[in-house]
Amino acid sequence: MFRTPVISDIRLAAQSLREGRLVAFPTETVYGLGAHAENEFAVARVFEAKERPHFDPLIVHIPSLGYLDYLVTEVSPVALRLAEAFWPGPLTILFPKREAVPDLVTSGLPSVGIRIPDHPVALALLNEAGVAIAAPSANRFGCLSPTTAEHVVEQLDGRIDWILDGGPCRVGVESTVVRPLGDTVELLRPGGVSVEQLEAVLGQRVVIAERVTPPNQPGLSPGTLDSHYAPKAQLLLDAMRLPPRNAEQGVGWLALRDRPAAAQPGDPVELLSATGQLAEAAAGFFAALRRLDAAGVRWIVAELFPEEGLGRALNDRLRRGSAPRHL
Ligand code: TXA
Ligand code: MG
Repeated sequence: MFRTPVISDIRLAAQSLREGRLVAFPTETVYGLGAHAENEFAVARVFEAKERPHFDPLIVHIPSLGYLDYLVTEVSPVALRLAEAFWPGPLTILFPKREAVPDLVTSGLPSVGIRIPDHPVALALLNEAGVAIAAPSANRFGCLSPTTAEHVVEQLDGRIDWILDGGPCRVGVESTVVRPLGDTVELLRPGGVSVEQLEAVLGQRVVIAERVTPPNQPGLSPGTLDSHYAPKAQLLLDAMRLPPRNAEQGVGWLALRDRPAAAQPGDPVELLSATGQLAEAAAGFFAALRRLDAAGVRWIVAELFPEEGLGRALNDRLRRGSAPRHL
């Protein structure tokens, strides 16, 4: 069986991307599964490798603002302001797309989500490749996002051409996705840039988008599917919902700082930050859920975070991870 090599050679990775191959690479948020954004065959392989439905569009990564003109028809003042404030960084902005962006990338939507990642390896790769790179998170659809090269191996080994190793991701949750709306923006997915940070730059309240069900409504963000980011164990947000316990069906616990009162001796417990820092919690979030899965528990009980800053993005992932699975 083909095993995907894990490499650190940025030149080789860039050359492969240009030639239409699939390369997983690190960003500051999570690892992405990259493909030459204008190569439809390569983009189609991304959907196949992830088992991702075609209604879920991909984010396009660029190395500098100069690439925008080539990909989009218009950059509104609000979009420019946010790009200047947060790029490189974990903010994806929707723009009306040019024809150069294949419909496959945007799932037929008229707008394309674009960001400049804030990671030295990602930026070097993009500069060396000299092309825009479409990249969803490098996981199988609906599963936990990868924050190390090893996580990518676990889900995509043998399905993609290279994995570029750049160590663990600093932010740990995906980018915030926004759509410009007049002189503010609509929040389609909470992520690494907080609502508070956006509002400070805009001087306006951000509009929070409705959650989308069913997923394929034109103009809305399909990544807001209810069930997403799910561990293998059943995730619960309330210990009261645990069924009566028995020896075969273990329970794991995820919390910010304090050991949950209902945890029993011997239960695996993941505490994300001894000092209660949300940034530290985000950086370790997906890896902690993976460790609980690896411990073989049937249930994971997670405590919601304070609904502020990165806590909003983490709670979003917990709520989706605990939603009934419909895919
Ligand atoms: O941090 C991140 O955003 C990572 C790294 C690799 O950049 N990427 C990522 O991609 O999380 P993905 O595919 O797992 O999530 C992208 C989500 C889509 O599910 C969708 O909600 C939204 O971004 N999105 C992308 N393009 C869109 C578009 N044209 N219209 C509406 N939503 C879009
Ligand atoms: Mg994803």
